Amino acid sequence: MLPISPFRFSNLGYMCAIDIVKLFSFMILLYKKNENGARNSGCVIIITMMKPYLINTHSHANMLKDTNIDEAMTNASNECILTVIPSSTCEDIFEVSDFITKYDNVYGYVGVYPEEAKNFTDKTLNDMEFLIKNNNKIIGIGEIGLDYYWDKSFNEVQKEVFIKQIEFANQMNLPINVHSRESHFDTLDLLRKYNKNSIAIMHCFSGSLEFAKECIKEGIYISLGGVVTFKNAVKAKEVASNIPLEYLLLETDDPYLAPVPFRGKENQPMYVKYVAQAIADLRGISVDNVAEQTTKNAERIFKFNAK
Ligand code: NI
Repeated sequence: MLPISPFRFSNLGYMCAIDIVKLFSFMILLYKKNENGARNSGCVIIITMMKPYLINTHSHANMLKDTNIDEAMTNASNECILTVIPSSTCEDIFEVSDFITKYDNVYGYVGVYPEEAKNFTDKTLNDMEFLIKNNNKIIGIGEIGLDYYWDKSFNEVQKEVFIKQIEFANQMNLPINVHSRESHFDTLDLLRKYNKNSIAIMHCFSGSLEFAKECIKEGIYISLGGVVTFKNAVKAKEVASNIPLEYLLLETDDPYLAPVPFRGKENQPMYVKYVAQAIADLRGISVDNVAEQTTKNAERIFKFNAK
């Protein structure tokens, strides 16, 4: 079983340590004020004041430079935010495994990023398998995928390595966190052909609404980050407003792409709340609604409740 249970109250939603303290103080207050059996109405108030847990499905908090990492992780935890950290290279799979062990409410993916495809070997797969078997906070494979933006000279190597990692995720029965830049159709094509049983997440989704719908038809989840808060991000806003909430996930991709009002500065995991708020505003629903559904989605994918 994954060690998330201390934060979970069955049927009541999610609470972090601070909420639990607040909740008990509030209950004592209600008890004192309502000696004549009016405590039931107090329970309704308690349920509505609880903050749902936000799940940040993609953060490179291990790469923060201007921000103190311990502080950033404490900030996120105090805000009831759970963070998932991907790896990028054949070496940093070990760093990510150590990093997620160090902090509460932090989980990880192991995988090799497309830019690093040339360094990928069979040893990398063995290392990934070793880490998955020895660290139960590794809950997926990522970030993996295709990136034709920087260098188109080794697209075929990228594809080979992406396929190998999809098949590995299938074998391990773990979800996939997918990076796709200037490569949308190839990415979807390879997922269609090779992915048998892993749930895929398109991280930092940058495609059109039509492409998002194509992905959703294949059961792929759409993860959105700080870009939805940018004034000129027409496509991202259209996706955020129109895709079914059941296929939406939240992320920061920090230290990059800080949301408004921190645009241009270093991003951090806690800022996922600005992403949730922006999506809620675009859809004309409450932020609690966005938080509740995206958390449910992430739980379904990562099997946080599974034994
Ligand atoms: Ni990333």
